[in-house]
Amino acid sequence: MPIPKAELHLHIEGTLEPELAFALAARNGVDLPYADTEELRKAYDFDDLQSFLDLYYGLMAVLRTEADFEELADAYLARAAGQGVRHAEIFFDPQAHIARGVPIGTVVEGLSRALDRSEERHGVSTRLIMCFLRDESAESAMETLRAARPHLDRIIGVGLDSAEVGHPPAKFKEVYEAAAALGLRLVAHAGEEGPPSYITEALDVLRVERVDHGLRCVEDPALVERLAAERVPLTLCPLSNVRLRTIDVLADHPLPRMLDAGLMCTVNSDDPAYFGGYAGDNFDAVREALGLDEERLRTLARNSFEAAFLDRDAGEEALRARYLAEVEAYSFD
Ligand code: ADE
Ligand code: ZN
Repeated sequence: MPIPKAELHLHIEGTLEPELAFALAARNGVDLPYADTEELRKAYDFDDLQSFLDLYYGLMAVLRTEADFEELADAYLARAAGQGVRHAEIFFDPQAHIARGVPIGTVVEGLSRALDRSEERHGVSTRLIMCFLRDESAESAMETLRAARPHLDRIIGVGLDSAEVGHPPAKFKEVYEAAAALGLRLVAHAGEEGPPSYITEALDVLRVERVDHGLRCVEDPALVERLAAERVPLTLCPLSNVRLRTIDVLADHPLPRMLDAGLMCTVNSDDPAYFGGYAGDNFDAVREALGLDEERLRTLARNSFEAAFLDRDAGEEALRARYLAEVEAYSFD
């Protein structure tokens, strides 16, 4: 069994495997511009974040009903469980669905049907985080937060994703203030393709508690020092970085240097159906390509539970403690 871990950076729409995409397309009468799963997989040869996003948003056309979202999430949770994931904080992109005429209620209710049974079925505790699309307007984000109001008992936080460069975090200051006032937890993608200054802005203007990716902090030694001192969790996604050509090959990934610098790194899968692997695959890949020893893998697993949003009450802290004990007790052979 793989080491127990929490997955903190996972877009549920990015778990749509080609086989399920074709099954849902047939069920919903949606025409896909690919002959079959093989042709679709061949299109997963990305130049950058935008070329991936174009395909990712296009393929969402097959997701229409509560049952579709339930099936998508249940398939992810089954796979994640098999890779040692014990807790998953799952992103979704409401604006990408609302724009296609699928209301946020359909998405949240469908996902919740799978999430509500996840502990019992898969042994995975779950939380939901809604992301705003940063290449849409701040007004659209605010409207989306408003649309989410009836569902906030199901949603623990907000995030910020989609095309990063040219869309700095500060654009969403007001909507993050509004989300904080509603008691929501705050995260944002920053420093994936965008400059280190976006990471600083996400911390200082949006007041995020975790940074998604944060990879490009390594270009700014003062920022690295700050992130380490403040123990800001970074949700790294190594296979994603290679597939989106942020780095050339996994052996060049700065993860070992980042750990040496005292950064609170976690390893996650981002969009596993597109990037060649789920959470455990990412652990295996960095172990092999970067020669991480067992203690470093244990640190990554420990960090994932320490950075999880499991601090609402004593029950949640007890769950975190149980997961952390599983990490300490884990034997690699
Ligand atoms: N949406 C889905 N995956 C993403 C990523 N890696 N970066 C930004 N937005 C995304
Ligand atoms: Zn992401």
